[in-house]
Amino acid sequence: MNKSIMLNIPDLSHKVVIVTGANSGIGYHTALELGLAKAKVILACRNLEKGQLALTKMQASCPNSDFILMPLDLSDLNSIHNFVQEFLNQYTQLDILINNAGIMAIPKRTITKNGFEMQFGTNHLGHFALTGLLLKTLIQTDHSRIVTVSSLAHKRGKINLKDLQSEKHYSPWGAYAQSKLANLLFAFELNRLFNQHNLSQTSLACHPGIAKTNIIETGMQANGKITFLGNIMNSLVGLVSQTDYDGALPTIEAATVPTINGDTYYGPDGFNEYTGLPKLVKAKPKAHDLKMAKNLWLLSQELTKVNYDFN
Ligand SMILES: NC(=O)c1ccc[n+]([C@@H]2O[C@H](COP(=O)([O-])OP(=O)(O)OC[C@H]3O[C@@H](n4cnc5c(N)ncnc54)[C@H](OP(=O)(O)O)[C@@H]3O)[C@@H](O)[C@H]2O)c1
Repeated sequence: MNKSIMLNIPDLSHKVVIVTGANSGIGYHTALELGLAKAKVILACRNLEKGQLALTKMQASCPNSDFILMPLDLSDLNSIHNFVQEFLNQYTQLDILINNAGIMAIPKRTITKNGFEMQFGTNHLGHFALTGLLLKTLIQTDHSRIVTVSSLAHKRGKINLKDLQSEKHYSPWGAYAQSKLANLLFAFELNRLFNQHNLSQTSLACHPGIAKTNIIETGMQANGKITFLGNIMNSLVGLVSQTDYDGALPTIEAATVPTINGDTYYGPDGFNEYTGLPKLVKAKPKAHDLKMAKNLWLLSQELTKVNYDFN
């Protein structure tokens, strides 16, 4: 059965959507489905060659579509500013922002152009800066929505305020889990701030369970060739995972479901939320830690120099 029919995606004509990391995996299928539902979809990709291949494939699957490719490297604040400037030169509305792009478990510590640990810098700080720079347009767009893609890995995550950038100690999975917990703290705090300012916008989160995408290979290759461990992980994931299309379903549901409440989090409905159809799931209580959310917010503003103005 076509699962997108089960999802009941509404007509998205005249809606403007941005999907980060839209050239691959979950981002690719999310962008394609939203395009099929007639949204104008901006594919925000760091690698324009890969982005162009994805764009061509999407246009072939969806001939009357409106996909636009734009460069965005979330590990570089300059690139984020340039992306937003280019977007604002062309658009005055933004209905759905999908903070999807991500990198996972890089074996050795690397840093972004701005000196942040790569996973925290890309997965959290990059999206924090992007959303903040787009905030005015999001607020100008009635009932706009921000969907941030987290992970089951948030359960093992800890925000290490004393060593946020893993300078003293680096663990590939620890840094990933920290970034994915940060995604949830950010998504829920943003929603609270919208509510506090009586705004119609919503911020929610989702996770794909375990899906066969390029994420293991990309992370493991970040320091060169894919490692032995990377190959083993890829095989193990193959045993319990769902397809990248199925992994995209919680994101698509979060982006398009008509009624949502605050602190909403979608994931798969199967065993341990590894696979299945989208349903509302529960994040660990630490993702709802108000004090940590505030601390992380202030630190993220300070590090990115992007201030959120809700007025
Ligand atoms: N797959 C899973 O089982 C799983 C589980 C939990 C959570 N997730 C989350 O799902 C999201 C999507 O990942 P995926 O599984 O679909 O992996 P993927 O196929 O590797 O896609 C990740 C996307 O993010 C892009 N990206 C990475 N670094 C970037 C940067 N600096 N700037 C802009 N884009 C960047 C990648 O671009 P390139 O193609 O250029 O590398 C790619 O388009 C991530 O947030 C991930 O943490 C995935």
